[in-house]
Amino acid sequence: MSTAEELRAALVATLTESRSLTADWVPSVAAVPRHAFLPERFWADEDGGDTECRRDKDPERWLRLAYADVPIVTQWDDGAEDGEHTVPTSSASMPTMVVEMLADLDTEPGHRVLEIGTGTGYNAALLTHRLGAEMVSTVEVDPGVTSVARSALRAAGFAPEVVCGDGSLGWPVAAPYDRLISTVSLRTIPSAWLTQTRPGGVIVSPVSPLLGGGAIVRLTVGDDGTASGRFTRSSAFMLLRQQRYDGAPVDDYLPGEWPGDSEQSWTKVDPEAIGDGWLSLFACALALPDVYYRRNDYGEGRTWWLFDTAVTSWATVDSVPGESRFEVRQSGPRRLWDEMEAAHNRWTAAGRPGYDRYGLTVTPGGQTAWLDDPGNVLL
Ligand SMILES: C[S@@+](CC[C@H](N)C(=O)[O-])C[C@H]1O[C@@H](n2cnc3c(N)ncnc32)[C@H](O)[C@@H]1O
Repeated sequence: MSTAEELRAALVATLTESRSLTADWVPSVAAVPRHAFLPERFWADEDGGDTECRRDKDPERWLRLAYADVPIVTQWDDGAEDGEHTVPTSSASMPTMVVEMLADLDTEPGHRVLEIGTGTGYNAALLTHRLGAEMVSTVEVDPGVTSVARSALRAAGFAPEVVCGDGSLGWPVAAPYDRLISTVSLRTIPSAWLTQTRPGGVIVSPVSPLLGGGAIVRLTVGDDGTASGRFTRSSAFMLLRQQRYDGAPVDDYLPGEWPGDSEQSWTKVDPEAIGDGWLSLFACALALPDVYYRRNDYGEGRTWWLFDTAVTSWATVDSVPGESRFEVRQSGPRRLWDEMEAAHNRWTAAGRPGYDRYGLTVTPGGQTAWLDDPGNVLL
């Protein structure tokens, strides 16, 4: 059985070879024992599914997974006792993502850093190893997760400030920060993060628009209290507790029988073709920040439902495999499918731009997404 040190050295080699791990972070990744931040029982995504792993039953697999380049779920359903395991709510992120986000953060000794989403405490330990305990604060919303992380950090010899609270409010006590890194995803970047990061400072965070897809944004804070920057890479993080959104019941949109007062039309764009691609959905989602979808299987096809958060409009599109045109129904003041199709067409016409051609500008009043240039706002 390989030792933790051997496995950690192998992880450093793998991450270096893939060019995810930058030289400045090698000493920290080589020194911080990732396994010391993992619970005795976790769920690892080894082959496309989260499988349980228990240290007492299979210590060799447990240690191997602790240093494998996979995300590890450490809590389900906000820690609910009933064992449903519906939604993963805390984890140790995939090492590749951890080190790539640290590279995006572009931090160096002397920087004061705030982390949002302490989780296991592993990322906070890396930051503390590099910057020193007095320079790192980390905020976790779940009290149980917070106290486990705090103990694990102490036991491993790291003492950053660990706060239990809502990270969307930042942590004003230790502000201003040179760098702010979130390891939990958001729909919108909170204004508190802008005010707590110094001008010229950098904010790195996963963003998950309501419609779907997700990516890491790297924002630089300006002198005027706004922040702007591009996306760097795709991501699929768990969502900030306060920004989860279930949507309104269908009856609130369509009180009677389908198709209600909807207008019928036809489209040649298969919604499945948009939804299948993380990037194509993300590109549409940035242009339609207040639209979400649900899907219903029926017979051999699937109905896509689009809704707006203001609960004024809905649309359905029936995707049937092998068909070349698809029935559309739209109701309300907005034509939601027309908006989605237009956003998708703009993405294809622009040459299917990748994440790094998109960006965000955040002001205290809200955020706007753009393509190539902050002036080229997505509508
Ligand atoms: C992907 S995990 C963080 C991984 C962690 N950085 C690590 O190194 O293990 C996301 C964490 O964000 C936490 N979270 C969710 N909403 C939050 C909020 N509003 N404020 C702070 N933390 C939050 C979750 O409870 C979860 O522990």
